[in-house]
Amino acid sequence: MSTGNPASAGLHVAIIPDGNGRWAVQRGWPRRAGHRAGAETVRRVVDAAADLGVGYLTLFAFSSDNWERPAGEVDALFGLVREFLLEGAPHWVVRGIRLRVIGRRDRLATSLRAAIASAEEATAAGRGMQLRIAVDYSAREEILRAATRFYTTLEISQEAFGWMLARVSHAGEDFPNVDLVIRTGGEQRLSDFLLWECAYAELVFSKKLWPDFGAADLDAAIREYHMRPRRFGRLPEEKAG
Ligand code: IPE
Ligand code: IPE
Ligand code: MG
Repeated sequence: MSTGNPASAGLHVAIIPDGNGRWAVQRGWPRRAGHRAGAETVRRVVDAAADLGVGYLTLFAFSSDNWERPAGEVDALFGLVREFLLEGAPHWVVRGIRLRVIGRRDRLATSLRAAIASAEEATAAGRGMQLRIAVDYSAREEILRAATRFYTTLEISQEAFGWMLARVSHAGEDFPNVDLVIRTGGEQRLSDFLLWECAYAELVFSKKLWPDFGAADLDAAIREYHMRPRRFGRLPEEKAG
């Protein structure tokens, strides 16, 4: 059940949860500890987004470039994603949240692939918030793969190309473009996340490290979004005549 702002119902929020490593290092802890705390924050923020009435939420869990990190960190991250899916699924079913994982699947361990399939299947009937987790995801690679499928086609609409992108990444074809990107950790970049879908997204950057981010910060970012005039290249309404 949603208690949130009805204006957020169709909103697609995309989050780049950055800063886990720095959060741990500040405490003299291994980076893994930061990722564990970050996974807890993901759980809280998913619930907070559903409470606020957000219609669509996409979270960046592991970028294709994150393979370049030490194997121990990569394993820890995948272990947390698997745990998140296994523990989250029964809870999302109750909340009517539908979960999908976007990105490449062919490089993932069989046990993670199984957890993805089972969480997706269990939540498939969810008509509440549509949740996507990006794992081994690269927007550039997704665009490239979709484009090469159309190698022999001369013209294609943006809409049809969007569907092809969704198919390449196992994403839902019913997902709208991103309205709001939130990135924590102080960096101001997209790091190869949803480049096509973010063409007109509003960007909100938070200096907070991801484990310190909470429901109130999400609410504040959405409020800021609602204050921003979106024009999509047109004139503001009052001047359009
Ligand atoms: C984000 O935190 C989580 C992932 C990339 C998976 P980082 O691990 O990038 O944390 P920082 O940026 O090093 O602090
Ligand atoms: C982006 O964070 C990826 C995720 C949050 C999963 P990174 O920490 O990997 O991005 P860069 O390297 O700072 O651009
Ligand atoms: Mg980072």
